[in-house]
Parts: sequence; structure tokens; C-alpha cells
Amino acid sequence: MFAVHLMAFYFTKLKEDQIKKVDRFLYHMRLSNETLLDIMARFQAEMQKGLGKDTNPTASVKMLPTFVRAIPDGSENGEFLSLDLGGSKFRVLKVQVSEEGKRNVQMESQFYPTPNEIIRGNGTELFEYVADCLADFMKTKELMQKKLPLGLTFSFPCKQTKLEEGILLSWTKKFKARGVQGTDVVSSLTNAMKRHQDLDVDILALVNDTVGTMMTCAYDDPYCEVGVIIGTGTNACYMEDMSNIDLVEGDEGRMCVNTEWGAFGDDGALEDIRTEFDRELDLGSLNPGKQLFEKMISGLYLGELVRLILLKMAKAGLLFGGEKSSALHIKGKIETRHVAAMERYKEGLANTREILTDLGLEPSDADCIAVQHVCTIVSFRSANLCAAALAAILTRLRENKKLVRLRTTVGVDGTLYKIHPQYPKRLHKVVRKLVPNCDVRFLLSESGSTKGAAMVTAVASRLQAQRKQIDKVLALFRLTQEQLVGIRNKMRVEFEYGLKKDTHPLATVKMLPTYVCGMPDGTEKGKFLALDLGGTNFRVLLVKIRSGRRSVRMYNKIFAIPLEIMQGTGEELFDHIVQCITDFLDYMGLKGAQLPLGFTFSFPCRQASIDKGTLIEWTKGFKATDCEGEDVVDMLREAIKRRNEFDLDIVAVVNDTVGTMMTCGYEDSNCEVGLIAGTGSNMCYMEEMRNIELVEGDEGKMCINTEWGGFGDNGCLDDIHTQYDKEVDEGSLNPGKQRYEKMTSGMYLGEIVRQILIDLTKQGLLFRGQISERLQTRGIFETKFLSQIESDRLALLQVRRILQQLGLDSTCEDSIVVKEVCGAVSRRAAQLYGAGLAAIVEKRREDQGLEHMRITVGVDGTLYKLHPHFSRILRETVKELAPQCDVMFMLSEDGSGKGAALITAVAKRLQQTQREH
Ligand code: BG6
Ligand code: BG6
Ligand code: GLC
Ligand code: GLC
Repeated sequence: MFAVHLMAFYFTKLKEDQIKKVDRFLYHMRLSNETLLDIMARFQAEMQKGLGKDTNPTASVKMLPTFVRAIPDGSENGEFLSLDLGGSKFRVLKVQVSEEGKRNVQMESQFYPTPNEIIRGNGTELFEYVADCLADFMKTKELMQKKLPLGLTFSFPCKQTKLEEGILLSWTKKFKARGVQGTDVVSSLTNAMKRHQDLDVDILALVNDTVGTMMTCAYDDPYCEVGVIIGTGTNACYMEDMSNIDLVEGDEGRMCVNTEWGAFGDDGALEDIRTEFDRELDLGSLNPGKQLFEKMISGLYLGELVRLILLKMAKAGLLFGGEKSSALHIKGKIETRHVAAMERYKEGLANTREILTDLGLEPSDADCIAVQHVCTIVSFRSANLCAAALAAILTRLRENKKLVRLRTTVGVDGTLYKIHPQYPKRLHKVVRKLVPNCDVRFLLSESGSTKGAAMVTAVASRLQAQRKQIDKVLALFRLTQEQLVGIRNKMRVEFEYGLKKDTHPLATVKMLPTYVCGMPDGTEKGKFLALDLGGTNFRVLLVKIRSGRRSVRMYNKIFAIPLEIMQGTGEELFDHIVQCITDFLDYMGLKGAQLPLGFTFSFPCRQASIDKGTLIEWTKGFKATDCEGEDVVDMLREAIKRRNEFDLDIVAVVNDTVGTMMTCGYEDSNCEVGLIAGTGSNMCYMEEMRNIELVEGDEGKMCINTEWGGFGDNGCLDDIHTQYDKEVDEGSLNPGKQRYEKMTSGMYLGEIVRQILIDLTKQGLLFRGQISERLQTRGIFETKFLSQIESDRLALLQVRRILQQLGLDSTCEDSIVVKEVCGAVSRRAAQLYGAGLAAIVEKRREDQGLEHMRITVGVDGTLYKLHPHFSRILRETVKELAPQCDVMFMLSEDGSGKGAALITAVAKRLQQTQREH
């Protein structure tokens, strides 16, 4: 009995002594609570640095955005291929995800070896090898004839700008294949797969193993928002608020960030806790100076740390009686699985003896106890460091959510965590100690990262299918060069129809003579009133023209025309106009003045002289009764008479295109075309009198108001007319009319966009499939909103804000789609304008028998002025479709009122000369 006690005492004493000895020797590896809290704080700062746009380039913890935006919601389904490369084992898998009521995942997998000559050889060969393994797997599983999407788990630091791309930043762990760093892994693998002609695989997602692990665990536990790997390497990812990720546009929701915490300390931040063993291990590694945190923690290095320590202790005579075996000198001889075995509760000591003996050593009892304790210190330090960094992440999550207590789940994977008997317990305990205000559940990922990767792929594949649907819709708005040439030619034919007496009555492009026959010559002078009706604003102006100096002074006032008046009776409309004139004259102190007036009236009018204009039909937003077929000058005169307060001399009625051409022509005599790209769409130009069959005389030129808005009303544009155009047409005030205008002008572009958005929403591709009342409201997308949405300077978030202001509750993804839709619609409009304009300049060039022609186009209208791309696309299209014409665009800064006044001045002068003769 006494002997037993004595033995026990002896053993306890022996153990104590050995432990003390090792503790003393490895003093630096034992980290106090304060130190861990300090490391935690340092890691918090590192995360912040990695997330900041300016600080990221120099940050060692890269905090890589992964473009995984949500954890699985259970709606994922389909059949996927998966590759898992970068951990201790390389696997190819087929994953079947089904939702049928309950979540269900089936996997079939096959391991393939990764020989050193492959993973440290030539990059191309590495990817070819991976592709070969995939092909082999598919053959064995008889999947060759199937086209399956693939998710690639690639456990190295990759910079991503989208899910299906990853630029390898650097190899870590055991890999070091040449020529891969700095290149996109997805395209390399895609290229390698091309060698197998029967392989038809689309790589839809690249995910880090941490991300895969998080997603795997989140499939079973929706609280999971962190993924940790403690295996060959170590790393973690977590769901970060988008508003904190500077490197990715958008502020909404969250995105998974791959911290790449293995590189913590690469900038020297951990030098105070690194030991001589860490430094020696680093020097002998494949990537010296890199992944310093990982090298203190992960499975690839733990055994080696233990070996280096044992060697040093032996050298110092603290172990094995100072004897070292040759095996103990060999790098990699002690592996993590040995460390794990030595730390087993019961068999630990026996295992230690066996392992040491296998290394050619002759350990005493004391040696075994000491070595076991070395292992404990090394692996405990590993768990401590992991816990500190993880605690920093958990704290960040809690603070992001502004919670006092956080309840969360951490998904974990990796051989060290899985096979080491003490590791999980230690890790959990330290984490809980460091973040007492977090209730953390640790969930072991039983099925590896691939299940999670398949979830990510499932979402990506659903998005890809949606993308295809969206592209299909947008493709309807894409015009080929050939189509544009066709449109130009058709427009040209319509011009001729409109000009010829025989065909004119049936022509849809009416080519109306304006009786404006010349440009101002600078001798005009006097004070004029002008009205400008039919664009966005109704204006009354006073224009003072001084002769000789080509200088004009203008005073104007904008008046509203309420909808009920635009669409009321003609009398009401003209009474309202006269009321506005009265107010203006009062305002200018001109009460009772008798001034000549030029009336810009931006609707199609048949003119028999400059001061007569019969409204053919209303266009755009006007629909006042009893006006069509009437002379609008008469209607205005009668309204003035009804008021009986003043008299005005209405000298000219002018279309806005003509006013614009004149305004610009006053500055540049080469200006022979007037273009409006605003609420409506129209163009006028100077035509040879001999070509205008409707007007007597062959001398000189006259301005023709083409009214090209009616182009297509005979069906000649039906091939490009989409269902959305039809809907817009049907909902307009003049169905079946002004087809070209409805595809090109400001009043309708927003409506086309709205129709497309409604359709995409119906298809479930936008606004979560919910058609809001707002979206059903006609006219919500005014030109100014389209222009804002399409501005390049605008961040996605701002687009979202505009949409929200419009009452459309959109996500960032929605905003991207809306912007694309706007882009497609406005681009088509600009191209159609370009085709029309090319038709006229080409006609003018040919009519004049010129090889090459220079011409200036005066332009006005909110679409042209506000839209960020419209004018450029218009210019480019004209250049392509009328290469022999040098077309200059001149923006009319002063509106068409000025031009109308000039025309009035000219007409007045002519009137006087006629009277004098
Ligand atoms: C596996 C995952 O379970 O764990 C891999 O499927 C991951 O994606 C690996 O890389 C990490 O552990 P180890 O120990 O194999 O590096
Ligand atoms: C203005 C002109 O500048 O532009 C108007 O003065 C013209 O006559 C208008 O109708 C066209 O643009 P919008 O966008 O106002 O229809
Ligand atoms: C290395 C890799 C990292 C990976 C980790 C675990 O640290 O750089 O991407 O997640 O190992 O496998
Ligand atoms: C409409 C009108 C036309 C006007 C154009 C631009 O197309 O019919 O006369 O020029 O809009 O305002």
C-alpha cells in the first residue's frame, strides 16, 4: 500500500517537475488573458483597416468581399457539381439539393490525390489535372451528357469582383504552382476544361472554404453567420454589413467577408508574441514572412513547431538525456495527427512514447510527460489565438447589430478541430471568456464546404437564369447597324412621300411647309412678344432685337397649364393663354402695349402663310376639344377679342423645331436643321422650293416641318415595335399615332421603362415580384429621373434613393436592373434619332450634289439637354449612318421663343415692304 502511494507521489512529483520545466522553457507561448484581449483588440483594428478603401492596400488582413450576400433560405434546389481544392483532401462531388417540403441534400463524392509535383509545378498542369479529375468523376458517375453548374471551393486568398471570378492573391499552405498568382482561377479552370470536349460545365461560383463551411452550417442553422477553418490552414469569414465594405458598391444588406486572418501579423503586428520557434518554422516554409498568424495556429504547422521545440530542448539537455535522433532533425517528421494522439486523455502518454520511439528516441517517463506538455502548450496557444480573433469578429457582429447580447452560431471545419481531442473544448471556453456577452453555438460542419458551395451555386444559377430573362427583354431594344440603316432608308422614303403632291395626303411624315424662307440677316430689330406652347413649359416672352449687333434681350415668364385645361375645351385653353399674356404684360409694365407677336405652337399645323396655321391634330399631352381643323391664330385672336383688354398683332405661327433652327441660325448661318428631343420628337430643315410640290414656285428654299413623330404610323416600324411600345401607345392620348415619337421622346421613354419594369416584376425578376401601386402610376418616370438614374457619376445607392423617392422600394440588385432598362430604352431612342437625322442630312447632301457636306443642326429639348448619354449616342449614330456629312450640333440656349421673335421680325419687315410697294 505504501509502495503504491509512494509511486503515485513519485509520479505526481515527476509530472509537476516536468510541467514546470516545460512551462519555464515555453514561457512565451503561454498567453495570459490580458494578452488575448490585447490581440483581440489588435485584430479588430486590422479588420477595420482591411475594410477601408484607403487602408486596404496596405492591410495585411485582406477582408475579401465574397459576393455571397445571403445565407441559404431553403429555396435552393437543383443538381450541382462541386470541387473542393486546398484543404488536406481534394474532392469532386455531385450535390443534389431539393426543397420538397424539407431541406434535403444528397452528395456523392470521390477523393483524388494531390501530389507535390502537381501542386507545386506548373499552373496550367495543375488546372489540367483538376479538369481531368472532374472528367473522370463525371464519367464514373455517368454525368457526361448533363450540363451542370459547378461551384468551386478554392481555399486560398482570392480577390473577387463577382462570384464567378477569383484572382489568386498568393498561394498559402502547401500549394505553390507557378504562373497562377495574379490570375483568375475560374477562367484558368474553364480553359483547362476545354480540352475535354464532352465536358459541358459552367463554373458559377468560387467560394473560399470558410464561406462554404458557413453556408453548410447555415443550411441547418439560420443563426450561422461565421465560418471558421482550423485545418491545414486557418481562416474565418463572417457576414458584414454592406455599408462597412468600402470595396463594394452598395450599402444594402450584408455580404460575407473572407477575412484571411492567416495573414494577421504579416506587417509585424504580432512580433511581441512570436517566438524563436515561430521564426525558425517560418524560414523553412514555402512562403517565408507570410501567413504568420496561420503558422502559429494551423494543422500544417503545429507538429513542426513541436518538433523544433523538442529539438531545442534536447540540445539544451532538457530532454532525452541530451540525445537527438536523426529523425528528429527531419522537417515534417512530427505531424498534427501526432500532436493530437499525444494529447489523448488516457492513451496520450503511451502514444507519446510510441511516437518518440518511432522517431528513434529513447524517452524516459519524464520525457514523455514533458513532450506531452509541449504539445499541450503549442495546441493551447493555437486555440487561444483562434479564440482571440474569433472573439474580435463576434464583437464586430454584435456591434454592427447594435445588440447588448448576441446570439449566433459559428460553423467550424478542419482536421485540427476535428481530430484533436481537446481543441474544440478549449477554443469554445476561451471564446466564451473573451466575449461574455455573446451566446455562441459552435456547429461542426459534417459535410465539408461543398454542401455550402452548392447552396451558393444554386443561388447563382437561379440568378443566371433570371439574367437570361432580363437580357432577352433588353435585347428587344438593341438595334443592329443593319436595322438602323433600314430605318434611315425608310425615313428617307417617307420624306419624299410627304413632299410629293400625289402621295402627300396619305403620308405619315407630313412634311409641312412653314413659309419660313430665309435665315435672319442681322437687320431685324424691334420689340416682340412671343408665346412658346407645347414643350415642358408654357412661356410668354418679350424679345428685344437690336439690329447690326445680333444681340437679343429677352424677358420671360413660365406659366403652368393645368391638365384640365390641356384636355378641356379649345376656348378654355386659349382664354387661359390670353390670361397668361395679360399677367405677363402687367408684370412687365406693358399694359395696353400693342406689340407684334410670334406664336411658337409645337404641334402639327398646316400653313397657307406664315400667320395661318390649322392644327392637324394634337400630339403629346394636349387634347383640347374643338381645335383640330381650326386655325390656331384665329382662335388666339378671338380669345384676345373676348378679353377685350388689348390688341396684339399676331404675325407668325411657328413650330418649335423652326424656332430652334432660327435661334441657332441667328448665330450660325450654316444651321439648316432644327431638332427637338424633348417632350416630343420632331425635326425641320431648309428644303429647295423646287422639291416642295405643295407650294408654288421653284426659287430659293423653305423650311419644312417634317413632323417625323408620325413615322411608323403606317406600320413600317412594326418589326422593332415591342410589346412595351404597344402598351405605351395604347395608354396614350392618341393611340396608333406618333409611333416614332413614342419610341424616342421624353414623354414616352419613362413610360416604356415603366412597362418593362412591370413585366419584369410580373416575371418575378424585380421588386420581389410585387407590383406596387406606384409602379402602376402613369408618368412617374419623367425625363429628368431617367437622366439622373443613368448618370455615370451616380453610385448605386443614389440610384436606389431616386427610386425610393419615386416610391419604388428597390434593393441594390433591382437598382442595377432598372438602370440597365433605362439605358436600353434611351439608347434605342438616341439611335432612332440618329437614323432619322442621317436620312435628312444625306438627302440634303445628295440634293445639292455634294460629295461632302457640312451642316449645323440646332437642337433643343430636355431629353437632349439633361440626359447623360443621349447626345453622344445620337452623334455617333449620325456619323456612322451619314459618313459623308460633317454634322455640327448646336444647342439652343435661349429656347425657340427667340427664333419665333426673329421670324416675326423678318415677317414684319416683309409686310412693311409689301405695304410700301
Ligand atoms: C473540409 C472542407 O471539410 O475542410 C474543405 O470541405 C476545407 O473545403 C477543409 O478546406 C479544411 O480542413 P483541412 O484540415 O482539410 O485543411
Ligand atoms: C424649349 C423650347 O427650349 O424646348 C420649346 O423653347 C420646345 O419651344 C422645348 O418645345 C422642347 O423641349 P421640351 O423638353 O420642353 O419638350
Ligand atoms: C489558408 C488560405 C485560406 C483558407 C485557409 C483554410 O489560410 O489562405 O483561404 O481559408 O487556409 O483552408
Ligand atoms: C410633337 C409635335 C411637333 C413638335 C414636337 C416637339 O411631335 O407634333 O410639332 O415639334 O412634338 O415638341
